[in-house]
Amino acid sequence: MTTLYLSDGIIKDEILVVGLSHKKSMRDGKASLVIESGDIALDTKKLLSILADMGATGNSDEVIKIPGITTRLLVFTGLGENKAAIDDEVLRRAAGAAARALSGSSSATFSLPTKKISTLEAIAEGVLLGSYIFNKFRVDSLAERNPSLKSATLHSKQAGSPGAKEAIKRASVIGKYSALTRDLINTPPSHLTPDSFCKEFTSIVKKIGGTAAGLKISIMTETQLKAKGYGGITAVGQGSANPPRLLHISYRPVKAAAKKNYAYVGKGITFDSGGLALKPAAGMEAMKSDMSGAAAVCAATIAIAVMKLPVAIDCYAPLAENMISDNATRPSDIITMYGGKTIEVLNPDAEGRLVLGDALVKAQENKGLDGIVDVATLTGAQVVALGTRTAAIMTNNQDFSDHFFAISKVAGEAFWPMPLPVELRASLDSPVADMANIGERMGGMLVAGLFLKEFISADLPWLHLDIAGPAYNEGDAYGYTPVGGTGMALRSLVALAQSAAIS
Ligand code: BES
Ligand code: MN
Ligand code: ZN
Repeated sequence: MTTLYLSDGIIKDEILVVGLSHKKSMRDGKASLVIESGDIALDTKKLLSILADMGATGNSDEVIKIPGITTRLLVFTGLGENKAAIDDEVLRRAAGAAARALSGSSSATFSLPTKKISTLEAIAEGVLLGSYIFNKFRVDSLAERNPSLKSATLHSKQAGSPGAKEAIKRASVIGKYSALTRDLINTPPSHLTPDSFCKEFTSIVKKIGGTAAGLKISIMTETQLKAKGYGGITAVGQGSANPPRLLHISYRPVKAAAKKNYAYVGKGITFDSGGLALKPAAGMEAMKSDMSGAAAVCAATIAIAVMKLPVAIDCYAPLAENMISDNATRPSDIITMYGGKTIEVLNPDAEGRLVLGDALVKAQENKGLDGIVDVATLTGAQVVALGTRTAAIMTNNQDFSDHFFAISKVAGEAFWPMPLPVELRASLDSPVADMANIGERMGGMLVAGLFLKEFISADLPWLHLDIAGPAYNEGDAYGYTPVGGTGMALRSLVALAQSAAIS
């Protein structure tokens, strides 16, 4: 990961990154460029004419490098339309795009407008998120790949304040655990199984101090899950040679009292072949990302522990591989979920709701919860409804949803509220069991949400986050978002805990 430094003094690096925005004159409608170099003064007149000659636009995701005057290289990163108060997320993305464009470089100074500490923090996050590269499985091709930008100095008048140091620390935690989330998502099922997922977190918990850090981890094996009646997790996992698990990470603040008590539950399908409802070959490889929810909730819980936030988190990851074999769950099979509900499995590809149902019931055995949040790459319908960059929030509690929505916006993650229309519920009725695992096709994201709602006690504030689209980027990199795993939901989950800490 890129190492971050703060400075308000002279620039020591050979690369200087500044912002570039565009504006339209009210008088003659002509477009012009504006250099946003924060607390560093540049000879903008000459630079602006060079940039104009080069056809610079200042649009977001445009990164232009020119020979510098006082530094060897001057890098302009697009901020889009010129604004008196630039949005933190615009700067987060611009910093990310520049950091990505600087892979292979050893150090760079970023000088962007940082009027508030939160802005400095956003820029720091952008640099760390944007410089991420997944090279774990390259051997022969590694040498021809540029490594991540080694270090970045954030230039700001705020550099000396204690608030700035804290901001950099928090950003580094976000950067580190976003990278962990992305690494897990990008790791293929040949190398990431329910068991190895658990081992990874067991070793992380140990490394950061275990009980001394307030963390406890427990893992249920397939035998234990069967014995205790976790019919959803075992039904989904039974077709695979890699048996299922239920991972539980609990965090309790060590010295402070917990101000809020949340359960985070993440879908952990290490590979979703569709089971006997086999998915088409084209695009099936993206289903290595079907554990994105589990990765996000577990990594967020570790991040919250590292930040020592005064909240209690119980994190559950129901882990299974959805495969085909003579032992795989068949369409028409009836299973008994943890807690006793029976489900007719009409479609083994609607497996996420089965593993989540079990885990949600388990999580609610803790009677002191203030809220429960599940995170899942649950439906293709989510992607159809909101596209690849916006995730959905569904809820039984408008206040909780509004609160989360506001927080996620500040964290720079795009969520949008979606309804749970009661009239769709009847489509999940089964002629033979308590419920079927699929219902009406239209509004499939909402139907999946309604299925999960059946496992939530009515008086417990609940959020269901369907991140099917934004969890995994199959297109080009943009802003601070790389190709592959994105880390979607991690920042909002940490921010939710932070907001509880200050309430
Ligand atoms: N993991 C998929 C959903 C998904 C699709 C995630 C695309 C990311 C990108 C999920 O398990 C699934 O297969 N859902 C089915 C449900 C259907 C059978 C009711 C779907 O969306 O087609
Ligand atoms: Mn599926
Ligand atoms: Zn799935």
